[in-house]
Amino acid sequence: MAKKIAKSLRRPLPAKAAPVQPEKPRATVTVTDNRTGKSFDLPVIDAVIGPSVIDVRKLYGDHDFFTYDPGFTSTGSCESKITFIDGEAGVLLHRGYPIQELAERSTFLEVCYLLLQGELPTRTQIEVFRHDITHHTMLHEQIATFYRGFRRDAHPMAVMVGVVGALSAFYHDSTDIQDPHQRVVASHRLIAKMPTIAAMAYKYSTGQPFIYPRNDLGYAENFLRMTFAVPAEEYKISPAVARAIDRIFILHADHEQNASTSTVRIAGSSGANPFACVAAGIASLWGPAHGGANEAVLAMLREIGDKKRIPEFIKRAKDKNDSFRLMGFGHRVYKNHDPRASVLRQSCHDVLDSLGIRHEPLLDLAMELERIALEDDYFVERKLFPNVDFYSGIILQAIGFPTSMFTVLFAVARTVGWVAHWNEMIEDPAQRIGRPRQLYTGHLPRRYVPMGKRG
Ligand code: CMC
Repeated sequence: MAKKIAKSLRRPLPAKAAPVQPEKPRATVTVTDNRTGKSFDLPVIDAVIGPSVIDVRKLYGDHDFFTYDPGFTSTGSCESKITFIDGEAGVLLHRGYPIQELAERSTFLEVCYLLLQGELPTRTQIEVFRHDITHHTMLHEQIATFYRGFRRDAHPMAVMVGVVGALSAFYHDSTDIQDPHQRVVASHRLIAKMPTIAAMAYKYSTGQPFIYPRNDLGYAENFLRMTFAVPAEEYKISPAVARAIDRIFILHADHEQNASTSTVRIAGSSGANPFACVAAGIASLWGPAHGGANEAVLAMLREIGDKKRIPEFIKRAKDKNDSFRLMGFGHRVYKNHDPRASVLRQSCHDVLDSLGIRHEPLLDLAMELERIALEDDYFVERKLFPNVDFYSGIILQAIGFPTSMFTVLFAVARTVGWVAHWNEMIEDPAQRIGRPRQLYTGHLPRRYVPMGKRG
């Protein structure tokens, strides 16, 4: 299957592919309960590309079974037209377009439009979209007082979770999820305000004054200026750095049903407002197994410190009695290579060159670590490759971001993915509240034990 998809992607793609609807259930699979000898059929639904799914929606109602899949390794939680990943072939498509082409030829705002609307924008459409986003970048002034309630040494992701959740207390005119116009406004507000919120989190941690957005700047430029400018002097934006940030945003914009996106969908399935849902997504992203990995990679590289110590850390990563893992390595879906990592590896060299950094010890260390790990049977057998987080931190550090801001940048970029999935979910007629079931392994019913008779 993987080879078939990779081959089909090498063929020239039509400029504008017609949207294809998933086929109605035709095939079935038969399940036999070998305890009773009874069999029943389950419908199979074919995807446009990628694995078909067994439709188990009526499994419990008709046959009194749940499925069991901790970590959802084999479970499709929804139908989606936004992003396709073929982990075996290392393919990532947004609305059908390969990520490498988008990273090379598009801007982040174009990719936002594509994810939200399903098509690349025309010149007029992108101008209107850019105007809408640019004119929502300012925050209600009272939100600044929120920041002052945090400790200066608070992790900026803690601030992000709090402030983004608080947006629902400020923008009441875009929290009615039944109103399509309000949904658009909320989506644009989230994409537009996220860089402002992120930059303010950074400014607050440094004790510098907040810098307001400027409407004559692009998305990445504005973010860089709000983060690094000070009122006392002119801030010159390096076009190479702005392009690198824009590219990092493109590469992190969406990634199908990952933990944080699934969190946003589940939170939204109850009818919660989009600001609260995205705050939930940020909380999920923060974990080191997900978006927090980019911060953890830098901490790991600094801890390793010297190429001579790489074997020691490889040994630890392979030791089942040691909780240490190679951060930035491995992925639930990619089992060949992460296409985002390849783009970022090249970007890393480009950014360092443009900043005049001839020798970056952490990059040398990272490349050597990658080389040694990729020759090691443990990593080869388990198909563990560098993921998107392996090289991004080196670029961000070179630009001047502290490690604590790395996951914040991921959150800024992923907001469009969260919002696109949230909209798709609300518009999906099959949408119901997300409510998984369980395999209960606890006590059988038993009598209450009064305090005096316990222990
Ligand atoms: N270092 C050492 N061993 C690893 C690693 C690693 N980074 N990743 C997986 N393994 C081993 C794991 O111990 C297991 O071995 P065994 O089969 O002997 O028990 C096998 O590989 C499969 O791992 P898993 O934990 O069952 O795989 P998963 O799909 O549940 O987890 C992952 C995927 C990304 C959480 C995991 O690879 C990991 O923890 N990587 C490091 C953290 C990281 O870089 N996360 C960023 C992910 S990409 C960006 C994003 O999605 O946010």
